[in-house]
Amino acid sequence: MTITRKSVSSDAVTFRSDAGLGVEPIHVTAPGRGQIRVEIRATGVCHSDLHIVNGDWPADKPLVLGHEAAGIIRETGPDVAAVSVGDHVVLSWFAPCGRCTNCAAGRAWLCTGTKALENTLPDGSTAYTDTDGQALWPYLGLGTFTHSVIVPEAAAITIPKELPFEVGALLGCSITTGVGAVVNTAKVPIGSSAVVIGCGGVGLSIIMGLKLIGANPIIAVDLSDEKLTKAAELGATVTLRADQVDVPSHLQESYGGVDFAFEAIGRVSTIESLPRMLVRGGTAVLVGMAAAGSRASIDPFDLADQGKNILGCNYGSSVAKIDIPKLVNLYLAGLLPLGELIGQIRPLDEAPAALEDLHHGKGLRAILVPS
Ligand code: APR
Ligand code: ZN
Repeated sequence: MTITRKSVSSDAVTFRSDAGLGVEPIHVTAPGRGQIRVEIRATGVCHSDLHIVNGDWPADKPLVLGHEAAGIIRETGPDVAAVSVGDHVVLSWFAPCGRCTNCAAGRAWLCTGTKALENTLPDGSTAYTDTDGQALWPYLGLGTFTHSVIVPEAAAITIPKELPFEVGALLGCSITTGVGAVVNTAKVPIGSSAVVIGCGGVGLSIIMGLKLIGANPIIAVDLSDEKLTKAAELGATVTLRADQVDVPSHLQESYGGVDFAFEAIGRVSTIESLPRMLVRGGTAVLVGMAAAGSRASIDPFDLADQGKNILGCNYGSSVAKIDIPKLVNLYLAGLLPLGELIGQIRPLDEAPAALEDLHHGKGLRAILVPS
């Protein structure tokens, strides 16, 4: 039987280091071996997209932005086994290779074979071209700010059809990173005290994770009253404005320090201040991603003398295939109010305005709906 596979056209939000952000038509090839075509129904606007746009992370090739999305599988390429046409899926940006030693050890978030961080499909190719036939590359192996994406099947996690696409989209990055930082990376014991610095999509997810496991107190820190109000709704017991309080001194004076300090901005000066927030033996968790090449300084005597720890956290130390279904179950059981994270729902071509709002810390997590 001969199957004719057709390419499709689609608008996309692109970033070129010489021309900046744009919305342009692109061409999307048919799915190749082990690949699927997914119609995007919702895609979140994350600070990791902004890191590219504002130059924190240099983009060495033209990109289709977006890496936090959910949609419906419309076509499968040869040798796709685990998912089918019609499945609703979350796209996970850290598509693991499944063959390296970290994958074998169950640490897919440390996969050394993934091409996601090189912004290509697993075979080093791209499915996207612009109207001049020039290649456009999928950001973090996905490039979801468009109508129709080609991704490896390993990037797709099937979700129940009753799960709203907006919630599914946020499960692709911010929620899994934030809740995972608490339960996987830090393994916070019940009753621990914790502070969360930065209450964007990731920080608010950390707060939800802390509430879920029974941390107390949960202290939320941000510059925006809107974010702090939401943090309190989601479980923060104390809220602090970083521009009004010296947070490390306040935490030492009021609580004798906290057991866990999560940084969810990626800002060097707040990262540097984490050890001063901790009790003896406390743990700082670096969840926010700093600009490429930045350096932070710590007091090594304090760290050694006080037995303090610093943990790096990528993607909440999550295995998407294991952790996303668990989070879906908790949401559907009413135990994790993930819908509370959703901010403005906007058409795809408003991505530049949504990124501008994110830059100014305005509003909750924006979701783009391509069609
Ligand atoms: N002190 C406290 N809060 C701050 C400060 C500061 N000095 N500066 C910014 N913030 C707050 C902003 O008001 C915002 O609410 O930090 C929050 C950052 O949230 P978002 O911009 O929505 O970022 P998010 O998508 O949550 O990602 C956070 O995690 O995965 C990484 O790359 C991602 O580095 C980014 C981080
Ligand atoms: Zn993200």
